[in-house]
Amino acid sequence: MAGNRTFTMIKPEAVAAGHAGKILDMIMANGFRVISLKYTRLSPQEAGAFYAVHKERPFYGELVDYMASGPIYAAILEKANAVEDFRKLIGATDPANAEDGTIRKRFAESKAKNAVHGSDSDENAAIEGAYFFTGREQH
Ligand code: CMP
Repeated sequence: MAGNRTFTMIKPEAVAAGHAGKILDMIMANGFRVISLKYTRLSPQEAGAFYAVHKERPFYGELVDYMASGPIYAAILEKANAVEDFRKLIGATDPANAEDGTIRKRFAESKAKNAVHGSDSDENAAIEGAYFFTGREQH
């Protein structure tokens, strides 16, 4: 049975540090199927649009600059209960609060440079996935 889907990005600092392979390995080892995968880079305009929901937050400018600062991996993942299970696997936004065994505990530098993104709802997973991938790129 096909599971639910979520969307992730391996963020610029984690890619630059050479952690992408290990992060993808953790994702797959935890039962997520990679439906789509792309190595790409967001322009500041694209990063601003992707995170528009955070426009009023004080960290928005910093977030947009950071997400456009280097290449990322974007991926759609499939698993039963994907959104919730993936958020458990990545851990708390601030790595200082992330549990042992989570991706952010292992790889995140800070609350801002927190290694990976994970969608917060099924609805946002669909919107975010469609931002990066056409239907033909989802298998
Ligand atoms: P993400 O899960 O991609 O969703 C929003 C992002 O904003 C978050 O990960 C962090 O990278 C960033 N963020 C959240 N809170 C802060 C903060 N207090 N300061 C800087 N960046 C933040």
